[in-house]
Amino acid sequence: MATLHIFPENDPGTAERVTDPEQIAEVLAGHGVRYGTHPAADAAAHPAAGDVLEAHRPLVNRLCEEGGYRFVDVARLHPDPGDPDWTGKAGAARRKFLTEHRHEEDEVRFFTAGHGCFYLRLGGRVYAVVCERGDLLSVPAGVRHWFDMGSVPDFCAIRFFREEDGWVGDFTGDPLGERIPTLDELLEAAVV
Ligand SMILES: [Fe+2]
Repeated sequence: MATLHIFPENDPGTAERVTDPEQIAEVLAGHGVRYGTHPAADAAAHPAAGDVLEAHRPLVNRLCEEGGYRFVDVARLHPDPGDPDWTGKAGAARRKFLTEHRHEEDEVRFFTAGHGCFYLRLGGRVYAVVCERGDLLSVPAGVRHWFDMGSVPDFCAIRFFREEDGWVGDFTGDPLGERIPTLDELLEAAVV
């Protein structure tokens, strides 16, 4: 289940925290952002992408029908002790969407494992949604946002697109994200 942290843009040190899924959905719906939870299928530790899709086929088909999505794939990254280049690859993957950008279509993700944080800029605030297994989030087209998979990326998410290049980002160059706590920091704060 997700945790929502809300930061005023002009005071990133102050955060409001919401953990109740229904309340998170309500807060985000007020800004046109869809959030919900769905049962994630049990599977092997790191199933193949095709198996992830098959295991969630009814949900995937329903979401595609409802949202008019024509393309579906699986984004994933897990620690790989056997790969000497893993740290470099993980860092490169993390930096790809760590700065503020927006897309021409909704960014729709269903997390089947691990976690990642979407930061959405809405009405003078930053809504940091730490998504986990079972969370569905749709970032509306045009909404400024960034995504942090953390310093040790470990997640699996199904992605939904209307166009094949729907994932392409338009980067704004706004450095606001540098002043907002990272996923690592949010997770540490949650433990304290
Ligand atoms: Fe994005």
